[in-house]
Amino acid sequence: MSRRKILVTSALPYANGPIHLGHLLEYIQTDIWARFQKARGHECYYVCADDAHGTPIMLKAQERGITPEQMIEQTKIEHQADFADFAIGFDNYHSTHSKENRELSTMIYNRLDEKGYIKRKTISQLFDPEKNMFLPDRFVKGDCPKCGALDQNGDSCDVCGATYSPTEVKNARSVISGATPILKDSEHYFFDLPAFSQMLQDWTRSGSLQEEMANKLQEWFKDGLQMWDISRDAPYFGFEIPRAPGKFFYVWLDAPIGYLASFKNLCDKTGIDFDSFWQLDSTAEVYHFIGKDIIYFHSLFWPAILEGADLRKPNAVWAHGFVTVNGAKMSKSRGTFIKARTYLDHLNPEYLRYYFASKLSSSITDLDLNLEDFTQKVNADLVGKVVNIASRCAGFITKRYDGKLSATLAEPALLQEFTDAGNSIADSFEKREFSRAIRDIMALADKANQYIDAKAPWVLVKDEAKQQEAHDVCSMGINLFRVLMHYLKPVLPVMATEVERFLNSELRWDNYQQPLVDHAIEPFKALMQRVDPVKVAAMVDDSKDNLQPAVTVTAKDTLKTIDTTSSAKTAVREPIADTISIEDFAKIDLRVAKIVKAQAVEGADKLIQLQLDIGEGEMRQVFAGIKGAYQPEQLEGRYTVMVANLAARKMRFGLSEGMVLAAGPGGSDLFILSPDSGAVAGMRVK
Ligand code: 2FM
Ligand code: ZN
Repeated sequence: MSRRKILVTSALPYANGPIHLGHLLEYIQTDIWARFQKARGHECYYVCADDAHGTPIMLKAQERGITPEQMIEQTKIEHQADFADFAIGFDNYHSTHSKENRELSTMIYNRLDEKGYIKRKTISQLFDPEKNMFLPDRFVKGDCPKCGALDQNGDSCDVCGATYSPTEVKNARSVISGATPILKDSEHYFFDLPAFSQMLQDWTRSGSLQEEMANKLQEWFKDGLQMWDISRDAPYFGFEIPRAPGKFFYVWLDAPIGYLASFKNLCDKTGIDFDSFWQLDSTAEVYHFIGKDIIYFHSLFWPAILEGADLRKPNAVWAHGFVTVNGAKMSKSRGTFIKARTYLDHLNPEYLRYYFASKLSSSITDLDLNLEDFTQKVNADLVGKVVNIASRCAGFITKRYDGKLSATLAEPALLQEFTDAGNSIADSFEKREFSRAIRDIMALADKANQYIDAKAPWVLVKDEAKQQEAHDVCSMGINLFRVLMHYLKPVLPVMATEVERFLNSELRWDNYQQPLVDHAIEPFKALMQRVDPVKVAAMVDDSKDNLQPAVTVTAKDTLKTIDTTSSAKTAVREPIADTISIEDFAKIDLRVAKIVKAQAVEGADKLIQLQLDIGEGEMRQVFAGIKGAYQPEQLEGRYTVMVANLAARKMRFGLSEGMVLAAGPGGSDLFILSPDSGAVAGMRVK
């Protein structure tokens, strides 16, 4: 097997927020893969960095009364501590706000500019006249230009699902100052993405992308590629564009260059040859692990920029799906938006590494962290199967056989079966089919336990004539355990280190086939505690946002909240609306509705299309902006309440014939109403 040169990256987390379990899926996936490559003897480096630029970071620092530099420094320390505690073994962790990134971004931009790939164009954008700054879409709010819904985002409406430009929003206001934005012209710098259309289509077909991703790209090619706006006006936290005072690189231009910058920083510290990885004729392999939400940036902009700057393109970009918890999007109010640190306060990080590995494949499908299944699986597999093998055999070796494994191997054929599985398990790791690898490893663990059950060494040791046999069986058990732990080492590096200490032997691909015979081991200590459901519940509790904080009412009926917990968010209650008469209320026909069918809506991130039974065979179709909080499959079969006499609205996706009632501020914090059990479809709610 020739020694490959491999560079691996995970997406760079923004430097203005904590690492959470959604992030960790990717770092754990990449880390397992990188550890596996290193264990196989390849020259593999895993680098990452904080993504430190952009308007949100600049504003958050302002809000906290510190400089952006101070904020990103603090965040980087926290991120690195979280990663280290989850045993994410980066070879280097850097920042996009670094000297290397400034140099590389400038160099790449200059090459693109020299070749004519940078175009300048004046555009009109919303501008906050109080803050004296242009407003990114997410910093504009107002009423939906299509359906009139109040207080919608600057680029899309949660109620009707329309997408639009912030300049179309009615009664627009700046989220930062509350001022009414004005339109202002500014010259922007654009990267000529369409010039790379053919190259990108060829690259997409070259096997660099998962099939689902390649298909998505075909749709984008069909729609035609657009020029990409890579500049932002001051004030901005980032790098100033060469020869363009007051213009800064948009965060997404210098973020992926951050992969190179982190690697350059590592090369400068260690003497690795940077160019041999990035020059055009490089034979090194480069892989980016990313989430499915940033495919566009990594499979279109990024290869085009590299091509335009005469650098090599990645061998592959591998996307994964999102993490859901208990079948739904992570939610602060449900306590399922779990920060890395909150998890670590309660649970062993290797439980999560194992659980994710047991469910990860090479596909882009979402991964559900079902907390009950998590508890059950970790306890059954790791504690009940794997650790159990060692704990059933090791005590006898220490107490009766002087801590030494037998010189004879009881069942060479069984051990052979275990070591022979190595090739196919390695193939699964290589192809990122971790769940397949885990399935195979656990099938072997079952066999090892069956072997021990059948031989019952605890019975043999009682018979003086069977001492040798008991020794052989226990030694066999330890050898089987050793092979399994060797396979699990990329997933459970911390436990593997403990096992190496216990076995007095390193777990390696070049020695795992030779059994340990006549070999001294250390006394066995518990390797892993069972997952305690009480701790899981405590973690969820600690992750809950206090949505009903203590409230004080001031004279003018404005509501203020008192922060009762350190994590409590300020919940501002909407003022109670003007009084209506009972006659007014009676005009609203509220009905119990059964959700017969629920499905996602192609092209609308926030909408779910519902088919509702409102009694006597009458069906209604409603588009509800609740996708941030619910998976469609969770809804089918549920009862809810709808406004049945709301005028139907024609939407881009079809007719919406009513409205489903839900409470909450939006996003993942939305709660649809349910009637008490016994209510049937069609009953009027009065
Ligand atoms: O989506 C994000 O969280 C970005 N900070 C990822 C950047 S990845 C790379 F391109 F830098
Ligand atoms: Zn709307």
